[in-house]
Amino acid sequence: MKFFVDTAEVDAIRELQATGLLDGVTTNPSLIAKSGRDFKEVIAEICEIVDGAVSAEVAATDLEGMIREGEHLAKIADNVVIKIPLTPDGLKACRHFSNNGIKTNVTLCFSANQALLAAKVGATYISPFVGRLDDINLTGMDLIADIRGIYDNYDFETQILVASIRNINQVSEAALVGADVATIPPAIIHKMYHHPLTDKGLAAFVKDWASTGQSIL
Ligand code: G3P
Repeated sequence: MKFFVDTAEVDAIRELQATGLLDGVTTNPSLIAKSGRDFKEVIAEICEIVDGAVSAEVAATDLEGMIREGEHLAKIADNVVIKIPLTPDGLKACRHFSNNGIKTNVTLCFSANQALLAAKVGATYISPFVGRLDDINLTGMDLIADIRGIYDNYDFETQILVASIRNINQVSEAALVGADVATIPPAIIHKMYHHPLTDKGLAAFVKDWASTGQSIL
């Protein structure tokens, strides 16, 4: 499963890039607003930091505007992926970009039917928001399993990009159901490393090695 980081904070992206774990980055208008940065400048900087897919979302909601903005954003760097909301005009724009070799990430997906539509118009990625479904007492990961089954039934190439991740369990659950990508907030990625038994075991190894009085070098 690919790991994307879900942020527009370049310091956090640089730190994670150094781990060798990062396959891409997703942003959205809320994350850009939170960064306080110029949108096109921060996308360009992120594209310099990571080689993988960098999602940049259009602001327009009409077909002509989405196409115009998406084509403009695609010129920033070769690894820019155009993020488009899952609406009728958004899917028409997706079909336009797919027909013209521009990679797309169809976002704000909350149903299997929506994901089926996105695959049929050639979306590169589909972003179902599992956290927001959990927030209303639905089970976001069930949607991922449903989409996985539908896509596998028809060999759709659209990649399932699990988004709106709130905890580390959702990362492993996404991997268990066969998602292609998880886009993970930086803090959640850092939490994935830790287990108390690892810390306890390492402390014991360090203590016992010290008691040998030996040196490896
Ligand atoms: O990439 C989509 C993600 O940023 C949405 O997450 O926490 O706003 O539901 P959240």
